[in-house]
Amino acid sequence: MKPGLVFVLVCLSVFLLEFVDCQKDEKANKNVAKSKKQNVGKKVKLVTKKAKGKPKVKKVKVKEPAKIFIMTQLLEQGRFRKPSDTLVVPAGERLVLRCKGKHISWAYPSYLDEENDGRFSINHRERFSQLIVANSTGADTGEYNCWALDCDTETCRKDDSKTGSTYVFFTDPRELFVPSNDYYEAIQLRTDRPTRLPCQVTNPLAEVSLHREFPPEVIPVDGRLITFDVKKGFVVHKALPLFAGTVYCVASYRGLRQSSTKYLLIYTNYPSAPPSATITASSSSVRVGANFNLTCTALGETDIEVDFTWEFPGQKLGRPTYTRESQRPVYVGSQIRQSSQSVLLVDESRPVDDGLYTCVAQNLQGKTTVSTHVNVLPHVSPGPT
Ligand SMILES: *[C@@H]1O[C@H](CO)[C@@H](O)[C@H](O)[C@H]1NC(C)=O
Ligand SMILES: *[C@@H]1O[C@H](CO)[C@@H](O)[C@H](O)[C@H]1NC(C)=O
Repeated sequence: MKPGLVFVLVCLSVFLLEFVDCQKDEKANKNVAKSKKQNVGKKVKLVTKKAKGKPKVKKVKVKEPAKIFIMTQLLEQGRFRKPSDTLVVPAGERLVLRCKGKHISWAYPSYLDEENDGRFSINHRERFSQLIVANSTGADTGEYNCWALDCDTETCRKDDSKTGSTYVFFTDPRELFVPSNDYYEAIQLRTDRPTRLPCQVTNPLAEVSLHREFPPEVIPVDGRLITFDVKKGFVVHKALPLFAGTVYCVASYRGLRQSSTKYLLIYTNYPSAPPSATITASSSSVRVGANFNLTCTALGETDIEVDFTWEFPGQKLGRPTYTRESQRPVYVGSQIRQSSQSVLLVDESRPVDDGLYTCVAQNLQGKTTVSTHVNVLPHVSPGPT
């Protein structure tokens, strides 16, 4: 028998079985029968697919609560409407956002919290919460979010299915950049994650470019290494040492040209993980008076600084410590790694040196703690012979 024919037969029998089931149901309950019949149709479809040689995929539907957009914006005529992703409001005008729900939380440009001249307010009512920015300025530009809270008698938690958000540009004809408190901002240009230069504009139509202070030049924004987003500013996706230095943004719109805050980009080679450390004692038990030492070794990426700190029994008693630190490249398989070492030297051991020796190896990503015991044994008393 041909395999194709087998499938057709299986197909047919499944259909017949379902059909018989269906008939029984019809007798039992006529209303249910209608939906059951539709199911039969679906099952046959699935089996037909299998016959064509496609793998049978079983879809499991996880029921998620439907997302509800709870934010509305007040229009001039007293009507409310769902705001679009981005709103453009001329500076000076009033913005009124409302979010439906008994308990509502808001997020808005943090600068507004510093405002105490009564321009900004949030009013919670029985069925909604209302945010008002009056006499707006370019500085109010940013993301406005709200979300409903599910509250019982004691606590509230965020209800992710009921949220609202919009990004509002308050176009100020004199301020193309959202003002910043700092004239100069130092930003770490980390190798382990993208870096954002938050030169946000107040007008989405402004042309924005990125400039280097010295040598003065325009930094090309290729959309790959560096991207621009009118809501976020520039993002450097891959930190390269050549990007380090002072940079700033320039925005131009209708004959107006302005420079942003200056950003000092500090190239920082970030390790991808904390160092992995090991500790060994030259001897786990020594006689009083003998010298011993402990070696803490951390293996990690090259050109990554590792800081060592020690904790040991004689520390509080002011035992002088001597450490010797060194670094050397090592090969792990075909990869070049860096082995960093700290050796703690204990000269002429005393009873107080007995105990736990702990080494903490730390880099910018975190630390590893390792420890070991050293027993300091008393002098061998001359026993009877
Ligand atoms: C907005 O500005 C007008 C005119 O300067 C002023 O009269 C009014 O009090 C201001 N409103 C708020 C809420 O600050
Ligand atoms: C540590 O102790 C061992 C054994 O006593 C000795 O061979 C080694 O030279 C010591 N290391 C240092 C750095 O002094």
